[in-house]
Amino acid sequence: MKTDRRKFLISGATLTAALVAAPGIGFASSENIEEKKDSDMAPSKLDKTRILGSGENKLEVSSLGLGCMGMSHNRGRLPDRNAMIALIRKAYEQGVTLFDTAEVYRFGQHINEELVGEALNPFRKDIVIATKYGFKIENAKSVGRDSRPEHIRAVAEQSLKRLKTDRIDLFYQHRVDPNVPVEDVAGTLKDLIKEGKVKHYGLCEVDAQTIRRAHKVHPLTAIQSEYHLMWRQPEVDIFPTLEELGIGFVPYSPISRGYLGGLMNDTTKFFEENDNRPTLPRYTPEAMKKNMVIIDVLNAFGHERGLTSAQVALAHMLAQKPWIVPIPGTTKSAHLLENLGAADLNFTKEDLKTLDTALAKIKIFGARGSV
Ligand SMILES: NC(=O)c1ccc[n+]([C@@H]2O[C@H](COP(=O)([O-])OP(=O)(O)OC[C@H]3O[C@@H](n4cnc5c(N)ncnc54)[C@H](OP(=O)(O)O)[C@@H]3O)[C@@H](O)[C@H]2O)c1
Repeated sequence: MKTDRRKFLISGATLTAALVAAPGIGFASSENIEEKKDSDMAPSKLDKTRILGSGENKLEVSSLGLGCMGMSHNRGRLPDRNAMIALIRKAYEQGVTLFDTAEVYRFGQHINEELVGEALNPFRKDIVIATKYGFKIENAKSVGRDSRPEHIRAVAEQSLKRLKTDRIDLFYQHRVDPNVPVEDVAGTLKDLIKEGKVKHYGLCEVDAQTIRRAHKVHPLTAIQSEYHLMWRQPEVDIFPTLEELGIGFVPYSPISRGYLGGLMNDTTKFFEENDNRPTLPRYTPEAMKKNMVIIDVLNAFGHERGLTSAQVALAHMLAQKPWIVPIPGTTKSAHLLENLGAADLNFTKEDLKTLDTALAKIKIFGARGSV
């Protein structure tokens, strides 16, 4: 991974850290403003890495990845394709080495894998591509689950072509298939790994028992599940098992599908043809209004330190365990830089206590919904 030594030493969630991390926020500190050059004021690159998994199955990646789903699927109007290629490349230039996609983004059209494959092709050897299989797709719609070994193999071959690559670095089962024992899934992945087509494997949205069963057949590198300040259940349900077995965790929707960025509220209109948020109880106008209390807490904490609510949410997540690698999604260059800035923020114990105390008083309104 490329590294670019930062010009400023940043320790603690200080104002300086925030100013360096957050684009669009100019230098406000009193020291030598006139002497700073434009290049000094540019946001620093992400130069921190984390390890997912352990032993022979470990995978080193940037401490924050990029979720690419929203560039094609479930996050509203489709942005310009060339702009998204440029954004993915910008993420790489900024130090991101983990890129997340899936066969089903978007259903039946596979446009996300093609986009990601094209964007990353020039630096393929320097980066990690994660993709997923596990749905049965008919007429551009998901009509169920399918993790039969032959289907996993077929999707792997198709994904390799779409991604323009000879290997999938991290291949996740997108959802459990109730008709296929996880041992058969793990066995198929073990074979694909032996053949060199897949390098590491993972599962999404699984319980601790399923993790143990799969891990016995072949060691897992990462579990990917929803996890953010409005959904912390994985801390209880699977973190102890992940810690014990040495498996990494990749939280998806780490900014709660955008809500923790503080730009959504009860007047937000979704482009329903390509957005799953209106189908989830936490994104009704009523829920978004009632849950604004969490944005208030993040903003209050962030304002004292020059941080945005999204940065506070991501930095809090990174502080929980060293084996967590969030993959926030965005279609905006400014949000990309803002989110990456969270990797530089090392909250003190006192900071975390302050934040956790305020968060503990909040009751989130609305169910998580089916995933
Ligand atoms: N395994 C699974 O089942 C699963 C499920 C869902 C997602 N995922 C993966 O996880 C990735 C991220 O999940 P996600 O897209 O659902 O949720 P997310 O990362 O929590 O939120 C993405 C949304 O937040 C907005 N956003 C990003 N940065 C922001 C900022 N700093 N301030 C304000 N708004 C901001 C984005 O809008 P802009 O484009 O305007 O920035 C986008 O609409 C996906 O890309 C996908 O790879 C996996």
